[in-house]
Amino acid sequence: MDRQDEKALVGETAAIQYVKDGMTVGLGTGSTAFYVIKKMGEMIKAGMKLKGVATSKATEKLASEYGIQLVDINEVEALDIAIDGADEIDANFCAVKGGGGALLREKIIASAAKTFIVVADGSKKVQSLGRFPLPVEVVPFGYKQTERAIRKLGCKTELRMKDEALYVTDNGNYIVDCSFPSIQNPSQLHQTLNNIVGVVENGLFIHMVDVLISVNMQNAISVDL
Ligand code: 5RP
Repeated sequence: MDRQDEKALVGETAAIQYVKDGMTVGLGTGSTAFYVIKKMGEMIKAGMKLKGVATSKATEKLASEYGIQLVDINEVEALDIAIDGADEIDANFCAVKGGGGALLREKIIASAAKTFIVVADGSKKVQSLGRFPLPVEVVPFGYKQTERAIRKLGCKTELRMKDEALYVTDNGNYIVDCSFPSIQNPSQLHQTLNNIVGVVENGLFIHMVDVLISVNMQNAISVDL
């Protein structure tokens, strides 16, 4: 099974096992979340009533294409579930997200969900976090100062670019991608980063993941609660 097949398998499994008629679902961003949205579109065609709250403008567009009625996050008290991908996830279910630049909305939506489900192909599972550069969303004003302050934590930093210009998130902010040699204490790093003036949010998702749907060494689906 190649990586794309794994993404399809975990995404579709999440939708089939966890999305129930009448639910409002937090819709993730990225190539794995795509398969959740696609499957939900099929479920709607088959007669299910489902609504979604999107984690990005790209997901808004995709969800509309698949016939999922979108709801404003401010109009729901809580989401039944949210299903999203991850850039890496460790044995304690701590995840790094934000490779697609949507970490802030993803975190708000994951926090609002009664159950937060991560769908991850086998390549995303790691012993300890730090292989994938940690995305940190910063406000544009004084971003170089903020980047310098982040670098003092012992990482290499890179401002995310797109089409030769600074990458701008759906919230109008920039992203600093931070390469740490390894992340030994994710909780502490999360706190320290968010205490830096100018940092809006970072891509560490700690004690948030309720269910991990991934693929094991035998190419079989694995569901960890
Ligand atoms: C977007 C994310 C994605 O969930 C993460 O980048 C994984 O993406 P993919 O499923 O395409 O590998 O956090 O901000």
